[in-house]
Formats: sequence, C-alpha cells, structure tokens
Amino acid sequence: MPERLLKILKENAGEAVSGPDLSGRLGITRAAVWKGIGRLRKKGYGIEGGKHGYKLLSWPGLSEEELSLYLPDKKIVFKQSVPSTNDLAIGLAEKREFSDKGILVVADSQSAGKGRLGRTWSSPPGLNIYMSYLLRPEISPRNAPLLTLAAALSGALALRAQTGLQARLKWPNDLVANGRKLGGILLELRSDPDRIIYAVLGIGINVNAKKEDLPKGIKATSVFIETGRESDRAALIAGIIAELDFWIRAIRKGEHAALVKAYRGISDTIGKNVRLTSEGRRFEGTALNVDEEGRLVIRVAGGGAERQLRFSTGDVTRLRGTA
Ligand code: BTN
Repeated sequence: MPERLLKILKENAGEAVSGPDLSGRLGITRAAVWKGIGRLRKKGYGIEGGKHGYKLLSWPGLSEEELSLYLPDKKIVFKQSVPSTNDLAIGLAEKREFSDKGILVVADSQSAGKGRLGRTWSSPPGLNIYMSYLLRPEISPRNAPLLTLAAALSGALALRAQTGLQARLKWPNDLVANGRKLGGILLELRSDPDRIIYAVLGIGINVNAKKEDLPKGIKATSVFIETGRESDRAALIAGIIAELDFWIRAIRKGEHAALVKAYRGISDTIGKNVRLTSEGRRFEGTALNVDEEGRLVIRVAGGGAERQLRFSTGDVTRLRGTA
C-alpha cells in the first residue's frame, strides 16, 4: 500500500492531496492512510501534513523501494555503488540467475563504469542513471545490433515523454542533445552461433549532473543542463524499461521495420556528413540511412566513383556541413 500511496503523492509532488481523496482512491480508511504516511516518513520521505492534506516535498535517493514502486513485476537488484552494473549483471547470468521478465540492475554510482570501445564511463553518485538489463531474448544473434538500437531509442523516447527534452540518436548507440552526448548503450552478449544465451544491455544517462559533474574534454551534457530541471530517476528508469520491453517484443516478432522507422525518426546521423571508424579503417561520406538490420548506410565518394557501404559497428563523428 505505501507504494500506491507514494505514487499518488509523487504524481502531485509539491501539492496537497486530501486525506479523504487518498482514502477514496486507495480504497482504504483514513487511519490506514495516516499509517502509510508515517511509514513513508520513516523511510525518509518529506511529507508535510496540513489542513489541505498531505504534500510530498522531498524524497530519499534512488532505492530498490522507489524502483519497485514503478516496476512492481520486475526483479530488481539495486546497489548504492558497484564497479559496473554490466559486470554485476554478467555475474548473475554466469551463475544462471535469470528471470523470464528480465533482471534490472541499477546502481547509484559506479567505480569502474565501462563505455564502448574500452572507454570508461564517468559515474558519480546521486545524479544519473546507470542500469543494466539482463535478458535471454529469443532472437537470433544476427539481430543483436537491433537490441542496441532498441535501448538507445527507448532511452530517448522516455526522456522525450517525461522531461520534454528532444533527445536524438547518434548511430548506433548515443543519446544526444544539441550535438552533445547525453548517454550511451553498452551491449554485452554471450551467444552460440544460432542463439543468444544472454544479453546485458547497459544504459548510462546523464540526468541531474551539473556542468562540473561531467567529465572534462568530451562534448557531454545532461538532462538538467538542457532543461534546467531535475528529473526523477526512478520514473525515467521505469519509462525506459516499458519502452524497451515493447521494442524487444517487436524484434522477437520480426517487426524490425517498426523499430528502425522509429529510430530513423529521431536520428541525428542520417543526412549528415560523417567520418566513420570501423575495425581500424576510416571512411568519410554521407550517412544515408539505417537499414532493417540496424546497419548504417553511407555514401562514400572516392576514386571518381560513388559507393554505398553498410556498417554494423563503428564510431561516428560528424563532419562540417549537412549533405
Ligand atoms: C558508451 O556510450 O560508451 C556506452 C556507455 C554505457 C554506460 C553504462 S552505465 C551502466 C552500464 N554499466 C557500465 O559499466 N556501462 C553501462
């Protein structure tokens, strides 16, 4: 019950909700509401009681309870600090700890957060989202790149819906706003030739970080920097998971076209002149499209001829000028 009570208070954060309203909506007595408020206060929620009702003014940081409030059916592992949520999720998978609906690993901070291509992922406490989703998706390893696209898309859609920030996607896995990096996806898999044994989708998003909390030397940003408002990390995580479950189901059903169409719709790469580094080689050209296997299609000029090349992995930088 405190979960449902808290949900109503959070939806009306900063405004008073009357006792009779709460008891009516929850189908419980006013005494039970009062008891629930007491339990939430003990857990660190700042709830003011006045003649107009109860007003939620502050709440403790991210916690397993907060997350279960939004994701009651999910198995959640929450840690205050871990080296890397991806490594923790891989450890669970190697011990064969799975759940049909996936296991969500979330940490408030990481001491050895991992980025793509062996980079580190800055993960200070109290500010951002560091999460890994452990799955046994019934999809072919050939379609694994689509999982990365699905995770990036889910992050951007949840941000758009909840914060209004018009996040876009830099192929394959970056969330960006105004040309600066907001977040990224790190997919780690174990698979047989014909079957994914498990997939760990790591998602990192700079949410409430201020300028001074971001790593220096890279063009990074956060939801706070872009919108000027703090966002609720637990609600965002739940929004991302709801999207991700939807898109993973779409991949399983073979509905790649729908996924790629949604991804293209908010792409920050298509139509741009880019330099792509893939497997040690560099290519320059115009990004034309993302195909139904999630590959980036680039028109490359050279030797007097034009060629279209398709890449399933790579690191993209934008060149000056739009094609
Ligand atoms: C990238 O853009 O390079 C990918 C960044 C992925 C970071 C996330 S944070 C949660 C998860 N745990 C990790 O160690 N990395 C991913």
